[in-house]
Amino acid sequence: MHRRAGLAIGPHRQDRRPVRGPPAKTDKPETVSIMTYVVNENCIKCKYMDCVEVCPVDCFYEGENMLVIHPDECIDCGVCEPECPVDAIKPDTEPDLEQWLEVNAKYASTWPNITSKKEPPADADEFDGKPDKFEKYFSPEPGEGD
Ligand code: SF4
Ligand code: F3S
Repeated sequence: MHRRAGLAIGPHRQDRRPVRGPPAKTDKPETVSIMTYVVNENCIKCKYMDCVEVCPVDCFYEGENMLVIHPDECIDCGVCEPECPVDAIKPDTEPDLEQWLEVNAKYASTWPNITSKKEPPADADEFDGKPDKFEKYFSPEPGEGD
């Protein structure tokens, strides 16, 4: 059977391999992963995009004012989590993430892929930690992607 040659890691990313080591194999898994990282509410209107620069499998997708992670593409390496300045990325092993698992899965299938950091919103710092961002500011509209 024909198999993919490997992960989509460009030459500029070769020094950014996951700190916990590469996945056991380089093909996508035959079965759906039962663990993923998710982007949560605090990304909304902050959207710093530092996270996309380190993801070895380019599994971030861009909405109008936040990003999401595709749960079937994320290899759970964890390197994006400490990169987010507003602590908006969590492993799904943490509690109370059900809503965000749904948001990430739903919009990762419709929003465009993003692999390079762009200019964050000018007022991004003002929205760090604001309450009820989903109810007040969430947009289902897609971003521009790469
Ligand atoms: Fe990408 Fe998932 Fe790794 Fe984050 S945990 S860098 S989303 S593969
Ligand atoms: Fe959002 Fe943090 Fe990435 S604010 S775009 S999850 S760096």
